[in-house]
Amino acid sequence: MSDRGPGYEQRLARERETFAGQVEVHGNLPPSAHHWSERHTRPKLEALGVPSIEELIVGEIAERAERLDRDVVVLSLGSGNGDQELGWLRTLAAAGQHNVRLRLLELNPDMQARAEASARELGVADRVELLTADFNTWRADTAHDVVVGYQALHHVLDLEHLYGQIRAGLDPSGVLVVHDMIGRNGHRRWPEALEVIDRIWATLPPRLRRNAMTGAVDEQFVDIDCAADGFEGIRAQDVLPVLLDHLHPSLFFPYGNVIDPFVDRIYGPGFDLAEPADVRLLDHLGTLDDTLVDLGVVSPTHLIGLFHPTEQPLRVHGSRTPERSVRDTSVVDPAGRVSFRPGGTTGDRLVRGAGVVTGRMNGVAHDDWAAPSVEFPLLTTAAVGALELRTFVPDDSADHGSVTIAVDGVPVAKADVGPGLREQVVPVAIDAHRQVRLSFDADWSITAGSGADRRTLAYILVGLRLLER
Ligand SMILES: C[S@@+](CC[C@H](N)C(=O)[O-])C[C@H]1O[C@@H](n2cnc3c(N)ncnc32)[C@H](O)[C@@H]1O
Repeated sequence: MSDRGPGYEQRLARERETFAGQVEVHGNLPPSAHHWSERHTRPKLEALGVPSIEELIVGEIAERAERLDRDVVVLSLGSGNGDQELGWLRTLAAAGQHNVRLRLLELNPDMQARAEASARELGVADRVELLTADFNTWRADTAHDVVVGYQALHHVLDLEHLYGQIRAGLDPSGVLVVHDMIGRNGHRRWPEALEVIDRIWATLPPRLRRNAMTGAVDEQFVDIDCAADGFEGIRAQDVLPVLLDHLHPSLFFPYGNVIDPFVDRIYGPGFDLAEPADVRLLDHLGTLDDTLVDLGVVSPTHLIGLFHPTEQPLRVHGSRTPERSVRDTSVVDPAGRVSFRPGGTTGDRLVRGAGVVTGRMNGVAHDDWAAPSVEFPLLTTAAVGALELRTFVPDDSADHGSVTIAVDGVPVAKADVGPGLREQVVPVAIDAHRQVRLSFDADWSITAGSGADRRTLAYILVGLRLLER
């Protein structure tokens, strides 16, 4: 086993496998992504004096190439096929700047081979050094003037190590240019964003809910965990806060959140830019997204920025400061509410007794109908010995069965549910003052099926009381 924990070697192997055949890393983004970028991202970046991310990077290198009487050393982290990096060299050479040396730090030997072939083809192989290494263990062996993290930092497991090495190897007047993902781990939605997306989802026609990976129309938005096997988004939510512990920003442009599913490779392709209604919808979503980020209702999931070893004057977009852009991961809901289950008209809480629900009750709808899988975070206020479960399945429904109760994913009890109103006490032991994930998995489901109600349900969760041990 690696000292980086169980599964590290498997994840590395998976990561190599994922990228081995990727000749085009950014190639297949849907048109909706480009539209959003042009309408909602580029103008804000321009207002900060940055025409594009490429020009930002080339500008940082060019300024140093002009000023310094030696080679400027540029390091690109997770450089992939090196296409963009070689593009920077080409642009600089065209402007007469040849004193630039490029170092490509990349795990994948297949991608390095492609980068090497391209460098040779362009006649710049003597300016390019390939560092085939794992950035979780790589050590800075020379001083760098410009370090670039271009869609790479969200693949890093040991951010503390890598940022430490970058800082140690950065020239005092050096810069780290970041263009990366800073949302929740695995690129999942935080509950406050999921709540908004779920509501938008319910209004979308089937063609905009078509999942390009599976071909199916998803009745519910599927919040995939991209970090399940490789390193995709492995510590995305730490990319920004850990970076701020190591370096100081001078340009800070964070953006995007609830727009993400509509411009990604899964659901984004559903938008047809030849359809005025689709373009209008996309623009509404872009405006909503910007507003929610600006209000601080959701925290940004993308970042473009410049970072330095010492404190610098800071350019930011409006109120999107570094401090406001870090999602407080110690809470389930940054708005501070104990539970934000929609509905709850009686004022009674669904879960009572020796604990409180500290976040979204996934799978419980506004009318208390429960999906086959229900999951929510629970904080016990005293030692729990049993759960008193009150459920209802319509008397005329032939579908009912048993529900498996699990604590932190470990099944601990079973309850028989339905027909009609049932009240039962099942022994479930949880220590006092513990934050756990409680889940209920039904072994049957009912598809509402009629009219606008497209939900897959199992039973009505009438109430849940946590009984003290
Ligand atoms: C999303 S791609 C970005 C590639 C390139 N920067 C670009 O934007 O075209 C992420 C890159 O990080 C590389 N990578 C992933 N894990 C790595 C590791 N542990 N060490 C070095 N590179 C790694 C992958 O092989 C892949 O090329």
